[in-house]
Amino acid sequence: MILSEKTVKKIREKASKYPKRKAAILPSLTLAYKQLGYVDNEIYIEISEVINVPQLEIAEAASFYTMFPKKPRGKYLLQVCNNISCALLGADAMVDRLEEKLAIKRGETTDDGLFTLISVECLGSCCTAPMIQINDDFHENLTRKKLDKLLEGLKNGK
Ligand code: FES
Repeated sequence: MILSEKTVKKIREKASKYPKRKAAILPSLTLAYKQLGYVDNEIYIEISEVINVPQLEIAEAASFYTMFPKKPRGKYLLQVCNNISCALLGADAMVDRLEEKLAIKRGETTDDGLFTLISVECLGSCCTAPMIQINDDFHENLTRKKLDKLLEGLKNGK
């Protein structure tokens, strides 16, 4: 079993609070992700056994959301919004800059495990486009200079 006893216990507790087992899928995936930093097929099977929901339904739910990656991500998750406001104000150029500076493409993680770069849909900060979410923090009104400074700060542990 890959999930820890502690995580399994938490999943069981969550599942017991819902009248329908399916309602426990997302909380279970969230708990598994918190433990491991990813959720893949083996984890779907384990969750399926714990909450008694078919594995396929867990896989379907997990594949719908970007917050449940199948592989571990870098220490810093760089999520560049690519929706309309951000796109019109230069989101693609920001992604290009990050790809160039980090020597990775969208969806990839740097060899040192520090950065994972992904594009995401609207993060709800359209009036301050273009923007990026780095882990839990928003960075808005991005410019190339601001992005370079952010990246340097992260590389230096700031
Ligand atoms: S379009 Fe980028 S935050 Fe809404």
